[in-house]
Amino acid sequence: MGISIKNICCIGAGYVGGPTMAVMSLKCPNLIINVVDVNKERIDAWNSEDLSKLPIFEPGLEDIIKKTRGKNLFFSNKIKESIENADMIFISVNTPTKEKGLGAGKASDLKWVEACAREVSRFAKGYSIVVEKSTLPVRTAEVIQKILYTSRKNSNKEKKIFKVLSNPEFLAEGTAINDLLNPDRVLIGGDDEQAMSSLRGIYKEWVAEEKILFTNIWSSELAKLTSNAFLAQRISSINSISAICEVTGADVREVSRAIGKDSRIGSRFLDSGPGFGGSCFKKDILNLVYLAEYFGLSEVANFWESIVKINAWHQKRISEIVVKKLFGTVANKKLVILGFAFKSNTNDTRESAAISICKNLLNEGANLVIHDPKVSVSQIENDLKIKPIKSFDNKKSYLNEKSGEWEYRPHINNLEIFKNAYAIVILTEWEDFRKLNWREISKNMVPPAWVFDSRSIVNPEEVKDAGLSLWRLGDGT
Ligand code: NAD
Ligand code: UGA
Repeated sequence: MGISIKNICCIGAGYVGGPTMAVMSLKCPNLIINVVDVNKERIDAWNSEDLSKLPIFEPGLEDIIKKTRGKNLFFSNKIKESIENADMIFISVNTPTKEKGLGAGKASDLKWVEACAREVSRFAKGYSIVVEKSTLPVRTAEVIQKILYTSRKNSNKEKKIFKVLSNPEFLAEGTAINDLLNPDRVLIGGDDEQAMSSLRGIYKEWVAEEKILFTNIWSSELAKLTSNAFLAQRISSINSISAICEVTGADVREVSRAIGKDSRIGSRFLDSGPGFGGSCFKKDILNLVYLAEYFGLSEVANFWESIVKINAWHQKRISEIVVKKLFGTVANKKLVILGFAFKSNTNDTRESAAISICKNLLNEGANLVIHDPKVSVSQIENDLKIKPIKSFDNKKSYLNEKSGEWEYRPHINNLEIFKNAYAIVILTEWEDFRKLNWREISKNMVPPAWVFDSRSIVNPEEVKDAGLSLWRLGDGT
């Protein structure tokens, strides 16, 4: 039997903290949940009256926020107060790859997690369950535990008791709400039966008990990294096969369908695309690589590192194909980029394949018109590290310029976006891109105009009938 939990504090109001706590608040109306963050702008956005201004775009999220925000779900910067009042504290902060120092380029940067642990240690009162929701290297719970006990300050320090659990999150962006409402499993790692049961008690409000797994804490931390590594490995595998398809006359969609029918393989996560993006696959695999190297398992490290390497190669391969098909040069040519998010139904661009592909094309001198229905111009500027220009139309000549420029379009309902374009490159599988009127679009473009579909979303006959040349990933037919 676990102790009953009434007050929850979640540190980190990001892509995980926000949706996770929103669903928990919906399913557990008796819990008071405070989501706190150091980023004031982000908290203001979570509290904005206009729900379309929430910091995260996630289907179904607005409806839940409408129901629970201000009732049992609160967003604020009141970190101290929220920790003081909480029985259970979720750490849901970012854990990116370290940029410098020991383990740079592979190990996770735990400075935000450490800062949280110190704050919890300082402000928590009495018995607190501390839950690792962030994805962490194996044995981080040990570090957290040490910080919690060694940084306690105040006269009552001996009365502070901490129980650390690992409860990794498996949601995928774009389907986060559904993933949280109907998880395949909930993993709880720990060594304290009572604390583990308390957390299970919360999930049991909406998740069947047999889906809630108890493991030791290190297995839980490692299972999260392994799960992402396996998923990413499938994508790198099918993307590598797409290259073979293109040179042999096979079609990667047919190959995927055929192998996916084998129940041992399964059909999901076999869509060849422009290379996996998102904030986690690359960083979690590199974390695993670092762990293997640390323990002297160089063959294991090389095996997993190859998944990341082939992903980078694949992204480069796509931009090279675009250049080759356009007679070996894209300098001064207008190309329309459809999609910048790392997948559809999210505004997240972290590690999006679009970033490296657009950078490569800009390097080759192309002028890009970039459209994404949910990604803002400032986010794209941040990713490309180049300021957008208002419009190419008034430019006289670009011939002497080394690298291309880009402009942003929030909408594509006006066909003018395609005017004088040499090619359209589809990088994100937004639903709207399936419904384009290729015949009308074609009239605006410079022949022989190309469509490069890296997501297999266009109808090939429609595109070809409109007089456009089509390249699809993994299509050797
Ligand atoms: P994020 O960057 O969107 O959000 C993290 C938030 O933590 C930020 O708003 C940041 O300001 C805040 N923060 C950092 N340090 C803080 C501190 N000391 N006090 C208060 N707030 C602080 O990150 P995310 O995408 O939500 O990911 C969080 C963790 O969850 C990562 O470990 C990630 O690997 C893991 N994860 C992410 C996903 C996903 O789909 N994004 C899915 C599963 C797991
Ligand atoms: C992934 C995992 O799916 C989640 O379980 C995990 O919780 C999360 O990482 C995390 O730890 O952050 P996410 O990155 O949000 O979720 O999205 P995915 O659906 O996994 O897609 C990742 C990338 O792979 C995207 O760029 C997507 O376009 C690509 N992908 C996915 C393919 O190219 N083909 C596929 O068949 C599936």
